[in-house]
Amino acid sequence: MSVKNLASHPIGIFDSGIGGLTVTRALINLLPNENILYFGDTAHHPYGEKSTAAIQSYSLKIAQLFLEKNCKLILIACNTASSAAFELLKDYVGEKATVMNVIDPLVQQLPKKYANKKIGLIGTKQTVNSNIYKKKVDQLNAGIHMTSYPTNLLASAIEEFGNHEIVNDLLRVYLDHPSLKNIEALILACTHYPIVKDKIANFYQHKIDIIDSSDIVAEAVKVQLAALNLLNTEPSVRKDFYISDYIESFVTSTKLFFDEDIQLEHYPL
Ligand code: DGL
Repeated sequence: MSVKNLASHPIGIFDSGIGGLTVTRALINLLPNENILYFGDTAHHPYGEKSTAAIQSYSLKIAQLFLEKNCKLILIACNTASSAAFELLKDYVGEKATVMNVIDPLVQQLPKKYANKKIGLIGTKQTVNSNIYKKKVDQLNAGIHMTSYPTNLLASAIEEFGNHEIVNDLLRVYLDHPSLKNIEALILACTHYPIVKDKIANFYQHKIDIIDSSDIVAEAVKVQLAALNLLNTEPSVRKDFYISDYIESFVTSTKLFFDEDIQLEHYPL
């Protein structure tokens, strides 16, 4: 198959629910020609409370679907699945497609601004317990002191209520935790959290940086596709959205993220 044909193949993006839409929005803004397949594994949300083995098995099934649909690149738009299943997925997919996660692009950017600083991180139980960010950050030897706290119920609240006021109560309880004191920046290590970024910034009275990976990841995908000569130059013809269970809040959120009339396909895993 010629590179020109391959360039028009879709990018497969997945998350446990609406979180990956934050990355998808940034990707479409940056690369409007790309064809997109989005999978929200709503039947298994929240991933953060599942075992590593369960997250790996869901991720493999989604990757299988993306390979059947000839995706040129698979983006794990979920920190939890990135920490639990990235290496496994890369091995499984092999040469058939490029696999990317949402953790590496962000970590690589940190030394530029945060060398020798204390930064906080919030994420799901699975992401925080995996300690993956800290391990990767320590490998950079940039003197970054990282402290993290699991905000267990936050992704579920956002999945259900979006950017509703009700989330403020949860944020106050979580962000007040002693382990997040005296930080100079906070990493949103869950792709659901940018949806309430304004509330998090308000909590800190806009005095610290709130680091959201969406634009950073979109840029990394662009660089990767350009290196492979796989950027699509023709106008996009498809943006397909699959969900493993039909959830009303997902439908509402998708419409908020994308102006176009999005068709959701029910695809049980
Ligand atoms: N959006 C996902 C993440 O980035 C996780 C939410 C969940 O627990 O399913 O970690």
